[in-house]
Amino acid sequence: MKILKIEKEYLKKIKLFQEYNKYYYDKNNPKITDSAFDLLKKEIIELEKKYKFLKSENSPSKTVGFTPSKNFKKVKHKIQMLSLSNAFNEEDLKNFEKKICNFLSLNEGTEIEYSAEPKIDGISASLTYKDGKFVQGLSRGDGKEGEDITENLKTIKDIPKVINEKNFPSEIDIRGEVFIQNNDFKQIDDKFANPRNAASGSLRQKDPTATSKIPLKFIAYTFGFIKGMNFQSQSIFLKNLKQWGFKVNEYNKTIKGIKNLILNHEYIEKKRKDINFDIDGIVYKINDFELQKRLGYVTNAPRWAIAHKFSANSSVSKILDIEIQVGRTGALTPVAKIKPVNIGGVIVSNATLHNEDEIIRKDIRVGDTATVERAGDVIPHVVSIDLKKRKNNSKKFVFPTRCPSCGSATVKDFNEITKKKDAVRRCSSEGFECNQIAKEKIKHFVSKEAFNIDGFGKKIVENFWKLKLIKFPQDIFKLDYKKIKNLDGWGNLSTSNLKYAIESKKNIPLDKFIYSLGIRHIGQENAKLLARHLKTANNFFNLSLNKDTDELKNIDGIGDTQIKSIANFFLNKTNQKFINELKKILEIKDATQLSQSGLLKNKTFMFTGKLQDMSRAEAKSIIEENSGKIISNVNKKLDYLIIGEKPTSKKNQFS
Ligand code: IVH
Repeated sequence: MKILKIEKEYLKKIKLFQEYNKYYYDKNNPKITDSAFDLLKKEIIELEKKYKFLKSENSPSKTVGFTPSKNFKKVKHKIQMLSLSNAFNEEDLKNFEKKICNFLSLNEGTEIEYSAEPKIDGISASLTYKDGKFVQGLSRGDGKEGEDITENLKTIKDIPKVINEKNFPSEIDIRGEVFIQNNDFKQIDDKFANPRNAASGSLRQKDPTATSKIPLKFIAYTFGFIKGMNFQSQSIFLKNLKQWGFKVNEYNKTIKGIKNLILNHEYIEKKRKDINFDIDGIVYKINDFELQKRLGYVTNAPRWAIAHKFSANSSVSKILDIEIQVGRTGALTPVAKIKPVNIGGVIVSNATLHNEDEIIRKDIRVGDTATVERAGDVIPHVVSIDLKKRKNNSKKFVFPTRCPSCGSATVKDFNEITKKKDAVRRCSSEGFECNQIAKEKIKHFVSKEAFNIDGFGKKIVENFWKLKLIKFPQDIFKLDYKKIKNLDGWGNLSTSNLKYAIESKKNIPLDKFIYSLGIRHIGQENAKLLARHLKTANNFFNLSLNKDTDELKNIDGIGDTQIKSIANFFLNKTNQKFINELKKILEIKDATQLSQSGLLKNKTFMFTGKLQDMSRAEAKSIIEENSGKIISNVNKKLDYLIIGEKPTSKKNQFS
């Protein structure tokens, strides 16, 4: 009886917490005071500590940090804040260096110099200084636009407010990591799952005095916008940071050669437990700024840097069920639902099993005891199972031959490159015909990298779908706001915010539009290549009308797989219909051409054969930066054929 009463009281508090949480963070309209809200969270956590049988997915102890509050002004970063690609082993590092050598046309094996810096697992921030004064501090946000958290950042002692050093640039964005030390975290570990969440939650307090109560630290490591740049290398810049009064990581090193990077990685990984803050790998940056400039960027990450992650944390848990998730491209991903377990400070209850082949290879079954790994921000995965702990009556897992969402047959594609069947099984439906795929397509459509509709997250897509408010992307622009206003958790303000967010995205650049359609094999980079080549939305739509996707062969980087995929996309009747609808609603901006006024304006180039002192990739990017156009098939417009060593005979004859 007592147990039932305790559980009832607990669930009542959880329900209240969920309700207040929604108002507090999602709706910008708190129903209770901050301290009453904190008290409620504390009560729930204390009940869980006292009565171990109490558990809820919605408990504040499970919530991983706070979703960004909408209380802060959004500000554009003058220079985008990038992320990093990951390396997990020596082979990944060798590939990284090989790509760099190819791009810079250096002999393979050239010893490149790196700045090796421990990767702090905190929250990045960009601090703008003008004439030596700290004037504005932004969170990373989506990399392009952050939140103005100046007042909260001002409470951090490690951040200099005034810098009088002679060589300090007149304007500079100093970038680095805000974090909380492990000993300080111990004082507040009842409120947050891990130090990173504590730093994030604290930085986003509405009241800066609340931020000042948590001892946050700041370590600087790079810059964004800078006026009058005169540093030759990252290591020199780091020295300057120290001289200007910033804290830099004491384990930063300048290292040559992959062998030495690995030795340093092993050394720091061993030291990790003695360092008073969380680090999850080592960042390697090409030290020479001139080389960094030549290498440039891909969509979100520089070519000149990589994060070498530490080996993962792992824990053992029981597989309670195996669920099949259907993704946007129809891929069926098996996910193990495991008994919740703490892995390196994060509560994990789902772990990916990757694909059908992986389940067969490891013979993974429901009821098995599994070792689950989690490395930094990578999705947790099942590494192995303990056969000794398997019960005699356990049954092999049978992978569904029908899509669990729409019932269509599931198929494995034949991969033309590997000449093998794919490891991934897919729903054979055409796309929007499968409810799960359709839902995932809409989530992709509104996502940050696509339409980026503020506040329209995955949960809202799920909710609106359930309520039959949306079925196709175009429905987003025809929402019934009167209905939404009266939904649970919505009100006048939140509805008008949503309406505004949607209306403001009706004007969209062509590359984002192409990417948002979720055509298989057309990611952000390929969408950019297509947009740059096609220039206008009409040219893109004409691909569907003329059924002529062959001319896309002219685009460097777009191959048969992509062209086939685009052709298939346009053949589908539902796709044609939803594209036509979108065409009526949206204003699609022509692709921004790189530069229209460079020296090579209106000139067309083609390459054949290997160049001597420069890679083709670099030569092409220089031509494009100067307004020239690259083509890969001979046509009448060709002005210059650049012939390297061992040219293709066909192209050579043309000259
Ligand atoms: S450099 C282009 N240096 O890692 C360079 N980042 O995944 C990008 N980080 O958002 C940043 N320590 O929050 C850089 N020494 C370091 C870093 C570091 C931690 C974080 C940072 C960034 C993320 C990239």
